Amino acid sequence: MTTTSQSPQPGVTQSGRAAISARTLRTDRWWLSPLVTAIVLGAFIVYTTVRLFMRDYYWVGEYHYLTPLYSPCLSASCAPGSSHFGTPLPAFPLALPLPILIFPILAGFRASCYYYRKAIYRAFLMSPPGCAVSEPAKKYTGETRFPLILQNLHRYFFYLASALLLINTYDAVLAFFPADGGFGVGLGSLILLVNVTMLWLYSLSCHACRHIFGGRLKHFSKHPIQYWFWTQLSKLNGRHMQFAWTSLITVMLTDFYIVAVAAGWVADLRLFN
Ligand code: FES
Repeated sequence: MTTTSQSPQPGVTQSGRAAISARTLRTDRWWLSPLVTAIVLGAFIVYTTVRLFMRDYYWVGEYHYLTPLYSPCLSASCAPGSSHFGTPLPAFPLALPLPILIFPILAGFRASCYYYRKAIYRAFLMSPPGCAVSEPAKKYTGETRFPLILQNLHRYFFYLASALLLINTYDAVLAFFPADGGFGVGLGSLILLVNVTMLWLYSLSCHACRHIFGGRLKHFSKHPIQYWFWTQLSKLNGRHMQFAWTSLITVMLTDFYIVAVAAGWVADLRLFN
């Protein structure tokens, strides 16, 4: 993802490369993948932006469903019952999204993810849009300068996002204990459970997570337990792209289902209690 300061020119325009005027000699549909990426990621960005400023339909008190986009809800403006960890923050003015502290962590974690970096650079920055396809930029500095140098903060976003994931897990468990007491299972409980499972798979398959567990070991044989974890995480890591997409979509669908129930568009399908 980085380049040396001696080679600021991008790809095919570098001296010493074959002088080919065509942008690419590829004849396959190389543009399809960045196009789909731009559409899906663009839809997610628009959807979450609308939801962050909506400040409504994020909590179903009857079944303890809290959308992951608003968890934890820490402001005195949060709906009664939705603040599982208290309200250490004061009431927010209407223009301020309730998840103002947590959303930058989630966005930073995704935006600095090794996979999403590739996807975003290809789909939005066209740097480059595909293998063996020339990019429009005249200069290339990779991630050596502001703002892209901030991508190196990924491991710290991983730590912060992991703390939020523990809270999401608590939310998912709580969704099996409705307000009228006892144990209950609704479609919303299952959706929250599937979503948090996908979020765990996404986080555990993270490259930084894999490195934290075993990336610095010089002798695997001296650390058999760490080595075992590193081996398991490496298997998940091979499917990181799939988990990145699946978890993105489950977050969006989970939020939309909670909107639908909270707004009264649909009744939660109760399977037990
Ligand atoms: S590399 Fe994708 S979440 Fe860490």
